[in-house]
Amino acid sequence: MSQCCINPSILSADFVNLESELQRISNADAVHVDVMDNHFVPNLTLGLPVVQRIQAVSPVPLDVHLMISDADRWAPAYADAGVASVTFHAEAAMAPVKLARELRARGSKAGMALRPATAVEPYLDMLGELDMLLIMTVEPGFGGQSFLDMTLPKIRRARAAVEGSGIGVAIQVDGGITEETITRAAEAGANVFVAGSAVYGHQDPAMAIERLRAAGQAAIAQSA
Ligand code: DX5
Ligand code: ZN
Repeated sequence: MSQCCINPSILSADFVNLESELQRISNADAVHVDVMDNHFVPNLTLGLPVVQRIQAVSPVPLDVHLMISDADRWAPAYADAGVASVTFHAEAAMAPVKLARELRARGSKAGMALRPATAVEPYLDMLGELDMLLIMTVEPGFGGQSFLDMTLPKIRRARAAVEGSGIGVAIQVDGGITEETITRAAEAGANVFVAGSAVYGHQDPAMAIERLRAAGQAAIAQSA
């Protein structure tokens, strides 16, 4: 049975007080850091210097989600920053296999993300190159959007392929995860859950994490 991980997204945190915002989620499995370049997505957040500072002070490992064009060129420097995992978008990488290998060679886990309308099938042969597959459950770019149920069949197909391959690839979902939608995503086969507004929009983020974890774990156990 896969382990249930809750990775809060700091996109919904107070960017002026990142260090104390990180302390509020110290019971999380990792912190999800959304890097956006206003090119691959229509929004701009933060880049390498800020990620390096977060890496220096965070009580939990960093799960970096790069929503940037030309990932082949820019992603390796994030692995060099010592973060636990770097996820690039399949749609933004010219040579995803080469890039995944480069990230691993630089000491981070390799993740690859798919936008809601990107099929998983063309990438199934490269599962062995990845530590994590991120299935976006909203169009990337903004927090606070509603979970897209149309992504559930893709999560199911990805889980079946992972189980069939015998390779331990984590399946992450990102966007619109709440105490309600986490159950559907977990039943479909996801085991790593990103939650921005559901954690930082809660008056007690640590408690929100525990509730999400309990709901996710229960659904994973039931579908095992
Ligand atoms: C959206 C980002 C998400 C975002 C999720 O493009 O990749 O990580 O922070 O926010 P919620 O949980 O509010 O949908
Ligand atoms: Zn994200």
